[in-house]
Amino acid sequence: MDAANPILRRIYSMKGGADECREVYETWAATYERDTLEDMGYVGPAIAAETLASLLPENAVVLDAGCGTGLAGSELARRTEAVIDGVDISREMLSKAAQKGVYRTLGEADLTQPLAIDADSYDGVICVGVFTNGHVGPKALGEMARVAKPGAALVFTVHQDVWASGYAEQLERLAANGRIRVHRIIDAPYHEKEGYRCRLCIVEAA
Ligand SMILES: C[S@@+](CC[C@H](N)C(=O)[O-])C[C@H]1O[C@@H](n2cnc3c(N)ncnc32)[C@H](O)[C@@H]1O
Repeated sequence: MDAANPILRRIYSMKGGADECREVYETWAATYERDTLEDMGYVGPAIAAETLASLLPENAVVLDAGCGTGLAGSELARRTEAVIDGVDISREMLSKAAQKGVYRTLGEADLTQPLAIDADSYDGVICVGVFTNGHVGPKALGEMARVAKPGAALVFTVHQDVWASGYAEQLERLAANGRIRVHRIIDAPYHEKEGYRCRLCIVEAA
């Protein structure tokens, strides 16, 4: 479906992979929060954080994958005492996230590539707004499962437009290989003012 919102139309038309994503977000970082939260009614970060918060153990260490300006990390910090690390491909987005003061570390990383993070590092992984048109594909779920400790919760959104592009199959593959257990996949609001919904996926690393 073509987005009515001109910013989303530009964002969702990306075809240039990680490099184009980086460029686009370097520019969008300045107005990203106003555009998404106020104009689009972006509720993905709050919903995903609420869900992950209910699943974390005490003293949890969490990875916010594709943390952007830190919306999900901030929502999580309001609800838990978790220590949060963030990674993103855009330096400008990361510099906005740093201003939130809720992250232990923030680093540049391309989620379409192997991550320079040890296996079994995190008690939880949150990834919001990243599995969407022109951004990161389902293959990245393997790395998120790898860096999560066995038993850790992975909570991520998949935009309604891209769900059919291999997410169910990738989750089935990872489950069949004993890497994850799929707990729940819920149809949830996403950009409320634009009418977009997402699949909110709740998975346990094995
Ligand atoms: C819609 S924003 C979501 C940011 C934040 N999680 C939120 O919910 O506000 C998508 C984010 O994914 C990041 N991104 C896009 N492609 C990426 C990649 N290949 N590796 C890491 N981050 C990427 C962008 O820089 C941007 O910050």
